[in-house]
Amino acid sequence: MLRNDQLEQWDRDHFFHPSTHLGQFARGEAAHRVIRGGDGVYIQDRDGVRLLDAFAGLYCVNVGYGRQEIAEAIAEQARELAYYHSYVGHGTEASITLAKMIAERAPDGLNHVYFGLSGSDANETNIKLVWYYNNILGRPEKKKIISRWRGYHGSGLMTGSLTGLELFHKKFDLPLSQVIHTEAPYYFRREDRSMSEEEFSNHCAAELEELIEREGADTIAAFIGEPVLGTGGIVPPPNGYWAAIQAVLKKHDILLIADEVVTGFGRLGTMFGSAHYQIEPDIITIAKGLTSAYAPLSGSIVSDKVWKVLEQGTDENGPIGHGWTYSAHPIGAAAGVANLELIDRLNLVENAGATGDYLNTVMGEALSAHPNVGEIRGEGMLCAVEFVEDKNDRTFFDASEKVGPSIAAALLKHGVIARAMPQGDILGFAPPLCLTKEEANTIVEKTQMAVKEVLG
Ligand SMILES: Cc1ncc(COP(=O)(O)O)c(C=O)c1O
Repeated sequence: MLRNDQLEQWDRDHFFHPSTHLGQFARGEAAHRVIRGGDGVYIQDRDGVRLLDAFAGLYCVNVGYGRQEIAEAIAEQARELAYYHSYVGHGTEASITLAKMIAERAPDGLNHVYFGLSGSDANETNIKLVWYYNNILGRPEKKKIISRWRGYHGSGLMTGSLTGLELFHKKFDLPLSQVIHTEAPYYFRREDRSMSEEEFSNHCAAELEELIEREGADTIAAFIGEPVLGTGGIVPPPNGYWAAIQAVLKKHDILLIADEVVTGFGRLGTMFGSAHYQIEPDIITIAKGLTSAYAPLSGSIVSDKVWKVLEQGTDENGPIGHGWTYSAHPIGAAAGVANLELIDRLNLVENAGATGDYLNTVMGEALSAHPNVGEIRGEGMLCAVEFVEDKNDRTFFDASEKVGPSIAAALLKHGVIARAMPQGDILGFAPPLCLTKEEANTIVEKTQMAVKEVLG
């Protein structure tokens, strides 16, 4: 293929990259990489460098790269009908089929799918639906949304507010006033180290209830949470967490939105994280794994309980005033159908559970004795290594030392992509669900080398 030698300059001069240090990038001080191909768990850049992508892009390429079945489905859809809208009752065979496939896989009682394009817009939709719901029920004051510190729900105005990470608020005038945050279910970072996991879960639930009572339950519409905290540090919940939280929400008649953008479609070794943790959500957010990122598509899976009120709302007020031009885009829908078929055919949900457990076990064996490894945790095909300055005192490194980013950079030199999570020195792994044990061994071996190089 023809090489364009000006590409780097064009990139630095014109391409406004998300989540990037803009000044350093423009000045040529930060890395520029052009990705050209992918196959299985590997990607390749245009200089021919092959990298094992142990973060599946942004934990989204769940079936792995280069799946021709999905490429063919997209091409076929584009040839037949690249676009038609889904307003006022229109659809395509692909979008209708996909809605049905999602409902079949979703937990009981969640049967209606609204399609968007990104996890962020799906969560924006969810908050609008929850507000609409309470207006139809005659509870116009019940509007605030509770999210958790370290939760990640997107980077729009509302979703950036729901996100509980400092970087996404600072200098953006966020969070908006309708959003309030409660404690993160982060057992390793608990203040009172004498607490057991169950005690800490009860403590989180008590904190939540206190917040609800302080604000007034009649002002709070919904609670949103990821089954496993993702971008906030890849943190599975402590034992008993979801049962304790759900009891409080039920008592105060507060809806539960399970943000399954990362956990949906197999990452935890179950089709949904809600099933994994016996969560009974009113709405589920899906994106990433829905198409394995072969095309942009997201969704809000709405429970029958919420749906009934939405129907009542349109009977009273006319068509729902919510829609995107690209809702249920046929190309995304075709990718989604082919992707879900592939997940079933290759048993990727089972593999995520089995090989994910293997990855976590081997990572633990390789690194848990290291004096700067505070915790190795994970669930299914999610794994995190958290680094500490002192293991006994559980003291953390100063962010300015950039320990996490340095280890990720060292690992990259060994040909493996992991993610330095944005808050704390945490190395995150979320490989494609098709990972093999051999590939898991490679990830662990190289991680061990990178840790040794940076921390000794
Ligand atoms: C749990 C969760 N929700 C929402 C989002 C936002 O999705 P998007 O980046 O597609 O807007 C993400 C993205 O990482 C996510 O992890």
